[in-house]
Amino acid sequence: MNRAKRLDKIPPYLFGEISRLKAKAIAEGKDLIDLGIGDPDQPTPQPIIDKLCEAANDPETHRYDETEAGWPSFLEAVARRYKRRFNVDIDPKSEAMLLIGSKDGLAHICWAMIDPGDVSLVPDPGYTVYKVNTMMAGGEPFAMPLLEKNGFMPDLTAIPTDKAKAAKLMFLNYPNNPTGAVATLDFYADAVRFAKEYDIAIVSDTAYSDVCYDGYKAPSMLQVEGAKDVVIELDSLSKAYNMTGWRIAYAVGNAELVGHLNKMKSNVDSRQFPAVDIAAAYALDNVSNQATYDLYTKRRDILCDGLNSIGWKVKKPVASLYVWAKVPEGYTSADFAKKLLTDAGVLVIPGNGYGQYGEGYVRMSLTVGGDKDGDRLAEAVERIKASGIKF
Ligand SMILES: Cc1ncc(COP(=O)(O)O)c(C=O)c1O
Repeated sequence: MNRAKRLDKIPPYLFGEISRLKAKAIAEGKDLIDLGIGDPDQPTPQPIIDKLCEAANDPETHRYDETEAGWPSFLEAVARRYKRRFNVDIDPKSEAMLLIGSKDGLAHICWAMIDPGDVSLVPDPGYTVYKVNTMMAGGEPFAMPLLEKNGFMPDLTAIPTDKAKAAKLMFLNYPNNPTGAVATLDFYADAVRFAKEYDIAIVSDTAYSDVCYDGYKAPSMLQVEGAKDVVIELDSLSKAYNMTGWRIAYAVGNAELVGHLNKMKSNVDSRQFPAVDIAAAYALDNVSNQATYDLYTKRRDILCDGLNSIGWKVKKPVASLYVWAKVPEGYTSADFAKKLLTDAGVLVIPGNGYGQYGEGYVRMSLTVGGDKDGDRLAEAVERIKASGIKF
């Protein structure tokens, strides 16, 4: 059967060799410490589950969500969050919409905005959804390198004028996957200025906005004056509340962009079970997941201090779920990931999987399953030390 040609635009799976070695190690009964997946290993906080049960018992939720842009009580809770957390006013009726996870919104904003030949500016390394959906919509992703020397923020002055003029979207993601970097409000202000100059819409992906450590608080791009003219921000409950499988997120910001995305999506899906929206609204208004962030902080310290004590040079992230580590001289990302897997039984993700500028790094996630108080991460460090891998 002939498939659509657009499917050919999806790049080959880059973790092929690592996946094969992982499957082999598991089949051989080896005890693998998997630092690959950025999926919270802790359960969703109980009050949110209780609220879901209550909402699920209400027959009002046993139907399609036929509202304009998502369950109103959820969108109102989103607006309250933006006021409380960022002092940003959001009109829940025109400047907010519900998403089935932020991946849904990130993919469909490409389909709503990109015509064949249009450019979208994407961070490299970066979450691959921006690039792949731009390509499937017939557009051309243009990589903005995230370099260590620039704090893993793109150098806007390095974007060629012809690409800036052809660009319709710019994707930014802070706190960042995979580098763990955070953005300043000054950078956000520069990005807003740039977007206005070239008539580009900015998609600000803040999936890790609440996963912060050491008292750090990630800003919203909408805090920048005039940002609402060009910015749509996509935020998610997945990582903030250990709710990845629930599929609940939202978009806020420029009403026109929200409208375009909503129009696109109204022809693609019929949203999720409304009880999920009610439980999510409850979470935004009432629940703190600080205990989980405290656990990540502890794991981060054990992993980073441990690796640095054996000669690595890793920086502690103040947000996100990731430690982004340089690989030693003489290795590619893939070679080094393979060596860690085979010699130490520790699985990490080679940085080139996130784009060409990720080469030379590996990503380690703090969400390791079965870890109690950092014991698995301490063991990972011990195993790497015992393997004799030199740094
Ligand atoms: C940067 C980034 N954005 C968005 C997502 C998608 O999150 P969700 O669709 O669960 O909201 C992820 C998931 O890993 C991510 O890393």
